[in-house]
Amino acid sequence: MCYAVSDETRYFCKNQTSMDINRPINRRNALKVLGLGMLSTCVPALPAGGNTRKEKKIKRLIFYFSATGNSLYVSRQIAGEEGTLLSISQEIHNENPVYDAEEIGFVCPVYCFIPPAIVQDFIARSTFKADYFFTVGTYGAHSTIFPEFVDNLAKENGFQMNYINTIQMVDTYLPYFDVDREKADPKNQLIPEKIAAVLAAIDKRENYILPVTEMDRMICEGYYRSSGRDRKRPTVTRSEKIVFATDACIGCGVCTSVCPHGSWKVVDGHSVAEGDCENCLACVHNCPQKAISIIPTPPEPEEPNRNARYRNPNVSIADLIKANSQI
Ligand SMILES: Cc1cc2nc3c(=O)[nH]c(=O)nc-3n(C[C@H](O)[C@H](O)[C@H](O)COP(=O)(O)O)c2cc1C
Repeated sequence: MCYAVSDETRYFCKNQTSMDINRPINRRNALKVLGLGMLSTCVPALPAGGNTRKEKKIKRLIFYFSATGNSLYVSRQIAGEEGTLLSISQEIHNENPVYDAEEIGFVCPVYCFIPPAIVQDFIARSTFKADYFFTVGTYGAHSTIFPEFVDNLAKENGFQMNYINTIQMVDTYLPYFDVDREKADPKNQLIPEKIAAVLAAIDKRENYILPVTEMDRMICEGYYRSSGRDRKRPTVTRSEKIVFATDACIGCGVCTSVCPHGSWKVVDGHSVAEGDCENCLACVHNCPQKAISIIPTPPEPEEPNRNARYRNPNVSIADLIKANSQI
């Protein structure tokens, strides 16, 4: 089945910022990415005589959103040694979202051909200053209009994307894809090569926006017409309409901390979904007991292949909790 034809539709570790989850970040860098406005309120007054040290800008700042690790993995590869990663699920709460770096990038999954609503919302509420902007979308089957949508999104919010590309990976959308088959798909062998090509292009600061073809437009149009989904927020829903915890749930609470909207709670030892939902399926794929299932689309009596679950092999549950937890 494919998207074209179906009509279906802080770990702010409390006192710590959500800076690069791979490497520790010092307070100075933490303040720097929060923007000059914050710096002026947080850094003690300079001694008389002024600042003798010049602040060095962050080189490459990458904002990512990831439910199952593909986009986090790609973000890490593109960040390299010098880059800084920030989770959009955490930064969406930043009250002074002004970001200044030499290069600013966004890495996220493609949801119904466009960026997830949380990514769009984050871009719309933030101010970005950089010499070079890029976006990389990870997708499973068809990314179609994603580059054009992101290009327009940036323009609407006052900046210009220099580079937009997509990388095909395992498709995590369980209503259409059996991830066991996806994991075995030969397309995955091309991932390292594609990441290397995207990284080389960004390192050279290439100006390139992946073209959108007439076929891409037709696929996208067909999907939106038949599904009737909102063209800007197609996957936004309520978690209780999408997912539920089965009897196998032991109330471990991983779902409560891996959900970017904090829409799970444990009641009497059993997880209950209730609240805003991106349809990202982080809860389903990351449940250690495989006890969370998607609500089947009639006439299906239950989710097919209920044990087929995925997390990018280079990413741990702890990484995704750190990225997404709202607890
Ligand atoms: C709600 C939802 C919608 C998706 N829509 C698309 C899509 O339109 N096209 C596509 O090729 N893949 C789609 N996918 C697959 C993801 O884009 C892909 O698996 C991505 O790499 C997952 O990234 P992550 O592991 O960082 O969360 C969708 C996945 C989900 C959960």
